[in-house]
Amino acid sequence: MDPKERGGDDVYRATTKGLIEGIISGYNATVFAYGPTGAGKTYTMLGTDYEPGIYLRTLNDLFKCIEETSDDMEYTVSMSYLEIYNEMIRDLLNPSSGFLDLREDSKGGIQIAGITEVSTINAKEGSNSMAFKTM
Ligand SMILES: Nc1ncnc2c1ncn2[C@@H]1O[C@H](COP(=O)(O)OP(=O)(O)OP(=O)(O)O)[C@@H](O)[C@H]1O
Ligand SMILES: [Mg+2]
Repeated sequence: MDPKERGGDDVYRATTKGLIEGIISGYNATVFAYGPTGAGKTYTMLGTDYEPGIYLRTLNDLFKCIEETSDDMEYTVSMSYLEIYNEMIRDLLNPSSGFLDLREDSKGGIQIAGITEVSTINAKEGSNSMAFKTM
């Protein structure tokens, strides 16, 4: 079922949905959940089977938008999932990798050295990569 039909997408609409068009046009965008333990960061980002969180709603809309965009454009979508806690960065797709460093790449962009990036060709595959990630 389309996540939007299940309700609970008001946070996604208010914070994230409007960014998709900009991403497709080549702009950067960041949405992050911030707050104390138990505030609902994980719930908001991952959601449940019944009420998908921001990441799955984003993937769905992103791939829909890519499909609707003209054929002479090519997009690659990859996903990472990380936590910043006490200014330390942890890769939540590979929690045993310890704390990761922020580095500047040769083009002056900021990178997280060694973070897992999972390529995905559709929202379903992306969703499978994130399955069982609960931190
Ligand atoms: N909007 C919501 N509706 C129903 N339950 C919620 C909601 N937000 C959070 N919860 C529940 O509250 C509990 C704490 O939420 P969550 O695990 O998302 O917090 P967190 O901010 O990720 O905490 P931590 O910093 O410890 O990882 C969970 O059991 C979650 O299912
Ligand atoms: Mg959490």
